Formats: sequence, C-alpha cells, structure tokens
Amino acid sequence: MLKTQTISRIEGQITVPGDKSISHRAVMLLSISKGKGRIRGFLPALDCQNTIGCFRQLGVEIEHAGQGVVISGRGLRGLRAPEKVLDAGNSGTTMRLICGILAAQGFSCTITGDASLQRRPMDRIIGPLRQMGAALCGVDGTDRPPLTIEGRKLRGIDYTLPIPSAQVKSSILLAGLYAEGETLVREVFPARDHTEIMLASLGARIQVDDGTIRLACSELQAQEIRVPGDISSAAFFLCAAAAMPGSHLVIRNVGLNPTRTGIIDVLGKMGAAIAVENQKNWAGEKVGDLVVRGRMLHGTTITRELVPVLVDEIPILAVIAAMAEGTTTITGAEELRVKESNRIAALVAELGKLGVRIEELPDGLVIQGPSRIRGGVELASYGDHRMAMALAVAGLFAPSSVRIQDSACIDISFPGFKRVLQKVVK
Ligand code: S3P
Repeated sequence: MLKTQTISRIEGQITVPGDKSISHRAVMLLSISKGKGRIRGFLPALDCQNTIGCFRQLGVEIEHAGQGVVISGRGLRGLRAPEKVLDAGNSGTTMRLICGILAAQGFSCTITGDASLQRRPMDRIIGPLRQMGAALCGVDGTDRPPLTIEGRKLRGIDYTLPIPSAQVKSSILLAGLYAEGETLVREVFPARDHTEIMLASLGARIQVDDGTIRLACSELQAQEIRVPGDISSAAFFLCAAAAMPGSHLVIRNVGLNPTRTGIIDVLGKMGAAIAVENQKNWAGEKVGDLVVRGRMLHGTTITRELVPVLVDEIPILAVIAAMAEGTTTITGAEELRVKESNRIAALVAELGKLGVRIEELPDGLVIQGPSRIRGGVELASYGDHRMAMALAVAGLFAPSSVRIQDSACIDISFPGFKRVLQKVVK
C-alpha cells in the first residue's frame, strides 16, 4: 500500500532508472550477437528481469556486474532448447518480441505469463509471424498465452502494420534477422524505433526510409549499450511538477528519442514550462536533461496520430488534465484497453473516486478540469504499474492523503519510485 502525503510543490534534481524498452531489446539483441556485450544503465525492474530469465533458460550466460549487465552472445544460431516453460511474467514486450526469435530456432518451446499477460492479445504477432512461415499458437488453438512455438525456416514479408505497435514491428524485425529474403515493415503512424536503432548499431543490414523499414538476414556484433533514463518513468515527475505551481525539477539523462517525446510536446501545448538541456546522442538514441517549472496548465486535445508517441503516458496525462483548466479530450487510444489493465476503464473508475469529472469513450477519455481532488480515498491499481504511479501523483494534489492498494506492481518498471518521490516532494 502506498500512502501519499500532502505537499506544496515538487523541487530538486533526479535521475530515473533505465529505459524499459531499450533494456529489453539490449538483452535480446546481445543474446543473439557474436561476442561479449555490456549494458550500462540497465533497468533492474521485474519486466526486464523476466527477459533475462528467458534468455538464461535459452542457454545465454548473463551476469550482473556492478551497475551493468554482461551478456556472452551466442550468435543467431546458438540458443538452446529451454528445459522449462519460459515465463514472461507481466511483460508484453518480452513475450511479443521473443516470439520473433523463437520462431526461427531449431527447437520448440512454450512461453507463458502472469494472469494479466494471459489476457492480452497475441494475434497481432501470430498473424505476421505465420506469414513468415512460423508455427506458433496459443492455448487450445486460441491466440492467448501460453504460446507454443515450433522453430521453422522463415521467409521475409512485406507487412503494413494494422496497429501502430512497436512490439509487433520488433517481433517481425527479429524474425526478419533469420529470414530468407528481405523483410519490409511499413508504418502509418510511427511507433518507437529502438529496435531499428539498436539493430543498426550492432551491424544489421537495415534501412529506414519514409515509414518503411527494410531488413536483410544479418549477423550482429556485440557492443556496449548505454541505456538512457526512461521518459515513461520520468513522465510521472515531469507531469506532476509541470502542473503544480511553484515546482522546479531537473531530470537528468532522459531518453529523448522523438518516437517517445510526445509527452513533452503535449505538456507544451497545455502551457507547461519545459526546457531541454545538455542534449547528446548515445549510439543513435537522443538523450538530455529536462528542466520543468510548475504552473497552471490548460486542457488539450490528443488524437490518434499522437497516441503512439505517448501511449504509456496517457494515465499520467489524464491525471494532470484533471488539474488543468478546461476540457481535455483523448481519442484514438483504444489500445489502452489491452495494456497491463484496461487503462481507460481503470482511469474512469479511480479518478472518479477522487472526484474528477471524467467520461469514458470507446477509444479514449474526456476530462473536465480543474478538479478539486478528494483526499482520504483508497484507490485500486489493478496490478498495473503505470496506474499505480499515475494515481500516486493524483494523490499529491489532494488536501489529505490517498492510499493506493497493491502498489508493489510499481517494481515492474520503476524500482525506487517511492524513494525518488520522497526526495522531491516539499
Ligand atoms: C513497447 C511498446 C508499446 C508500449 C510498451 C512497450 C515496446 O506497446 O506500450 O509499454 O517496448 O516495444 P505496443 O507495441 O503494444 O504499442
């Protein structure tokens, strides 16, 4: 149980743990690279530990060394059949991406996950991977995990993503590393491109041009990978400070890949005062410091084309929309219904308990602000890490403390969240 305290502002300097998406990809790609690779700034959260657990079972030697992780890559063809069912835990990224690799191995295996992951749709990867020649299916012939994958020889495809999903795109690209012939993935609204960037830096034959990614069967060469702070974790503090007048917060070394920075643009549209400083580039990933000063924000409109670049930030955006003057409308976000929880329904239920005027749309939310947040309320996290952290921030705006049940799920993406929060609340 997390209990919030009443505060007057947010102030200080912080860093946030490593980017989750990049950490997963670093473990996967280094595991199938040639040579020894090191990951600096790896996110030691439950989701990424699950990816490590899966690759250890596939025969990869992975050690924690100081602040980093060292991986002895086995090359594209060096994985071995696991002795047990692989377990992705709560992590959709682990399950969807690893299937692209497993589809091409010389063995069969099964991968499962927790109750939440077992409810999440896998047809989005099963369809394109089958087109590539893969043999995978869900439990009792459905598209739900556990998934059983029989390794096959794959062929390249030309695939237009029907939903803007980086997990689907990445699963196809990982399969494409093994496929005969070229693999093309076409995107209408670009989703996060960490896989493409990392593949290029490890030597894959990949080209990206005007929404089309082309990849040819490639061996990868291990390298050191430096992981920036996760903008999706920074977002909880960025939004809280931006919406609380009198606040002043610096967040150092945050990943600023343009396919992830929608939150900064939307906060700007809401009137937030955010500056980006000390910009640099870590192997193709933009990184910088965020400096934010708090003020009264105003409502905004978020439509479909923006959703992929801030998909994980919608819970926290809904929270600060409640504190902003006027109406915020979010549409084209039906993907939120199939995340770790049904985030649209969960936000309506829990923010409603705090007295926020919030309306559910089939594909989004309408929020009227500014709300007078109620204190003394107990809220449900639905076992969803981003819901728990978004609600914890909502509680900071209440006149008395708010309790978040089942807050241990925060460790799925942000171990140390409570400690960082304690440091900056005044
Ligand atoms: C992720 C992609 C997004 C995001 C998830 C991480 C990734 O999911 O919501 O938290 O690392 O590729 P979708 O690909 O389903 O949009």
